Amino acid sequence: MNTPKRYTITAALPYTNGPIHIGHLAGVYVPADIYARYKRLTGNDVAFMCGSDEHGVPITIKAKKEGVSPQDIVDKYHAIIKKSFEDFGITFDNYSRTSAKIHHDTASAFFKTLYDKHEFVEEVTEQLYDEEANQFLADRFVTGTCPKCGNEEAYGDQCENCGSSLNATDLINPKSAITGNVPTLKETKHWFLPLNKHEDFLKEWILKGHKKDWKPNVYGQVKSWIDDGLRPRAVTRDLDWGIPVPIPGGEGKVLYVWFDAPIGYISATKEWAEKEGKDWEPYWKDQDTKLVHFIGKDNIVFHCIIFPSMLKAEGSYILPDNVPANEFLNLEGNKLSTSKNWAVWLPDYLEDFPNQQDVLRYALTANAPESKDNDFTWKDFQARNNNELVAIFGNFINRVVVLTNKYYDGIVPEASEYTKVDTETLAAVKAYPAVIESSIERYRFREASQELMNLARLGNKYLADEEPWKLVKTDEARTKTIMNIALQIASALATLCEPFLPFTSEKLKGILNTSDNSWSSISTKDVLIPSGHQIGKGELLFSKIEDKTIQEQLDKLEASKKANEAANKAVEPQKDLITFDDFTKLDIRVGTILEAEKMPKTKKLLILKVDTGIDIRTIVSGIAESFTPEEVIGKQVTVLVNLAPRALRGVESEGMILMTETPEGKLVFVNPDTTVNSGLQIS
Ligand code: 2FM
Ligand code: ZN
Repeated sequence: MNTPKRYTITAALPYTNGPIHIGHLAGVYVPADIYARYKRLTGNDVAFMCGSDEHGVPITIKAKKEGVSPQDIVDKYHAIIKKSFEDFGITFDNYSRTSAKIHHDTASAFFKTLYDKHEFVEEVTEQLYDEEANQFLADRFVTGTCPKCGNEEAYGDQCENCGSSLNATDLINPKSAITGNVPTLKETKHWFLPLNKHEDFLKEWILKGHKKDWKPNVYGQVKSWIDDGLRPRAVTRDLDWGIPVPIPGGEGKVLYVWFDAPIGYISATKEWAEKEGKDWEPYWKDQDTKLVHFIGKDNIVFHCIIFPSMLKAEGSYILPDNVPANEFLNLEGNKLSTSKNWAVWLPDYLEDFPNQQDVLRYALTANAPESKDNDFTWKDFQARNNNELVAIFGNFINRVVVLTNKYYDGIVPEASEYTKVDTETLAAVKAYPAVIESSIERYRFREASQELMNLARLGNKYLADEEPWKLVKTDEARTKTIMNIALQIASALATLCEPFLPFTSEKLKGILNTSDNSWSSISTKDVLIPSGHQIGKGELLFSKIEDKTIQEQLDKLEASKKANEAANKAVEPQKDLITFDDFTKLDIRVGTILEAEKMPKTKKLLILKVDTGIDIRTIVSGIAESFTPEEVIGKQVTVLVNLAPRALRGVESEGMILMTETPEGKLVFVNPDTTVNSGLQIS
């Protein structure tokens, strides 16, 4: 067993401008939680830190859009995010927030220390400015073409396509995200972190150091940035939402969100330590502590170059041991997108699939985007559940529990003589902790989850080959031995599945009625569940997910796709101007539909009898795909009554009903909101 160590494990602080979706979970939070749980189970001292990233432009933009204050936005989403993480079983030791006083104090003090150590370069430079909005444009307030890859939607601080970290003035054809205007340039003073000064240290630490064990996607990106040469990076902004710059001349300016956010890991640790009566410093300053940052690939530059340079410049902190960044997860073949509502949101999942957290955890882990972007499909989710969790894991446990209850009233039978297969099976079980451990230590969580499933496969195969249900009639002693061994495998599974399937682990331990076995005891102890021990009654660990349930989720996505397409449909240009006299030629009145019937042999047309107040007349209307005749009878509608009559399918139509179409393509009447007399004129 490894010697216990102290681990500071961080998971990227999510922006508080929307709920968590499966992309965040697969990229960051599920692997981080597996790692933290595993490290705790193997006896280490773990501080698993996260919190809400509450500053930065995305939050200001969202607040502007919703017509509320940034504080309202962060309060709302902080609560939603925190609760959904808890309900999903993510075991942060502390989930803090960057609007907390302790964070403002910590980030201010950090900035002040670097300032006092002359680690910043103060410079007046020309920055992009939106004359109409009366505001400097930085970060996500400005978009333009990335000078590195040509992506036309790069942001002022980063291109999400190629991952380059940018200064707003690097963008080609910049455009204000507030007004759409082309920005002008205006002088302003800022403090820059001279990354060029830290280049040698970064080369030594990452390139020449032992960081070759970092994931190739992380190492490769970092190497290419360092090889390109690093430039000073502004760490202050002319914005009004954020942490005030705490030095003379900093009035009206705030810290760059990417300066304060990673310090959030430190302030979360301080807040936690205070509550727990611990000392926070060893978690950040003791060279024996392992610092591991779980992030998505768009955060690599900040965690591998900028934050380490800040920590190094401050001088008293440790540096990350590893930064296991994941690639992106797509959804049903398209990029996940908050603004396009192309996502599976965690709060929705928890509502639609109650008590099935482990199914999503497993599906996201087994298909994690570890070395390349991957696709989440609802079909794959269903298959992972039905073919693996239900058919392999659940099936094995169910057989063991049902047979133990049936043959021995739930009492673990005694094993007698072992056959070669028994000895080999028990030896194979003992090898599993090391096998899974080796995958987790290399941050290969997919592989680790498959090894776990292999252990359940081993159990299934053992039962299928040894057939206790046949032997029970002829060989009592042999049946007892087989069942005893199967119960040892079930106990091993209960412990080893905890990092991946924590809810299942709890349930299974309840069924087996076992006190906890430690991770290492699986490979050292001969007996995990002793003979004579009473287990509980069976309870299904997983249940089959039907096609109908999957179809409902696909329909949900289809509806958001349609809504998006409709929203993106170009608005029809305005028609040519008409005079007031032209308008007065239109005679529009309130009509009441008295009768309605389908036009024979057509899909779209209804023949209506409408009381126009002047007369009762026939109007043929193309609304049959949106309404049945019964639905429209009695409805008051707006009618153009002086439209020249025309024949439709042989029926003369004497007017037109005014309608509009929803984004989903359903027709709706333009009708008065209170009942009025038919014939009233609309003008
Ligand atoms: O990309 C994001 O969602 C950022 N809010 C991550 C911040 S990580 C950190 F450094 F705090
Ligand atoms: Zn780019």
